[in-house]
Amino acid sequence: MTEIKPHGGVLIQAYNPEYPFEGIEKEIELDATALSDLELIATGAYSPLTGFLEEKDYNSVVETMRLSNGIVWSIPITLPVTKEKAADLQIGEQVRLTFDGATYGVITIKDIYEPDQQKEAELVYKTTELAHPGVKKMFSRGNVYVGGPIVLVKRIKRTQFSEFYFDPAETRRIFAEKGWKKVVGFQTRNPVHRAHEYIQKSALEIVDGLFLNPLVGETKADDIPADVRMESYQVLLKNYYPEDRVFLAVFPAAMRYAGPREAVFHAMVRKNYGCTHFIVGRDHAGVGNYYGTYDAQKIFDQFTREEIDITLLFFEHSFYCTKCETMASTKTCPHGKEHHVILSGTKVREMLRNGEVPPSTFSRKEVVEVLIKGLKEKAPVHQ
Ligand code: ADX
Repeated sequence: MTEIKPHGGVLIQAYNPEYPFEGIEKEIELDATALSDLELIATGAYSPLTGFLEEKDYNSVVETMRLSNGIVWSIPITLPVTKEKAADLQIGEQVRLTFDGATYGVITIKDIYEPDQQKEAELVYKTTELAHPGVKKMFSRGNVYVGGPIVLVKRIKRTQFSEFYFDPAETRRIFAEKGWKKVVGFQTRNPVHRAHEYIQKSALEIVDGLFLNPLVGETKADDIPADVRMESYQVLLKNYYPEDRVFLAVFPAAMRYAGPREAVFHAMVRKNYGCTHFIVGRDHAGVGNYYGTYDAQKIFDQFTREEIDITLLFFEHSFYCTKCETMASTKTCPHGKEHHVILSGTKVREMLRNGEVPPSTFSRKEVVEVLIKGLKEKAPVHQ
């Protein structure tokens, strides 16, 4: 079985449907990001976090990419509230965490603090521009943070692709049952195009199984919707991957678009799901031109192998080369750019939305068919 320990050594388990919360009067209304974070903390996906960050840990994460006890953690997982709401809260009390009128959790408040969000933007996202979707999101949430341990009392109801939700304890068990000792995790918020397939399969040559783990929490409006992507992954796996080598499960977190910092976070979380290896390609979790092509790989130089404790597989920018007549990267192909099929994500989304078919050297035809159909169904109706 996979021997990999959860990040920090213990898989946090904070789900208790019996937890008596009925007598707790005060509540904090969560947004979709906080709701997904609450559940991911409770299921151990964010181990070693046991709650939303307190100020000491928050400052440490923002400034040093570590919790105050030194454990690597690169993205602040926070519970923002408005100033008005904060005025009504007190340290030491328990508060219900609600969404759409239902109680999903309870927080024991240890800290209420005003973060330096300008600094958070600069250090975590490397920009304070509101054009950056992660920065915009951060500033649009409350500007007081509440910290403290949580209990999840109710699971989020899954209306879509419910059969693809698995907690870290379950994926760890499943990998063991499959006899996979080495499992490579793959994060994606896009359809799997030929370049993704190439790096996944290159990795699969040296490990036992692929954990295809698309992020399905909040993404920016022009990303391809999760349900369309999920259909495209299934058709791709059915036609081009050996069934017993791939496990598809969703990652229900919100996308932060924090590039290098998010790559570290993504790797730690996949370790919690039981992965021994993790793929970081070009511009991982990037957006626009905010990060250098390989910044999300270079960032790992700041940590020791022991404290990261998952094997990172770095891949160069991959493409189809018409001269080589195969997928390749600058590491394996000697030909000039004019022979490489490279399309930007924005360009491809535009093509798909217009019903245009990207070349089969860029994306498998079965995938393209699903995407065009899915996007057409979602398109606003023009009279
Ligand atoms: S991400 O925001 O989730 O990272 P995406 O789904 O595009 O975006 O990427 C998933 C993974 O594939 C990331 O590790 C990314 O670096 C890698 N990747 C995407 N496209 C390429 C490419 N053409 N060459 C190499 N790696 C790539």
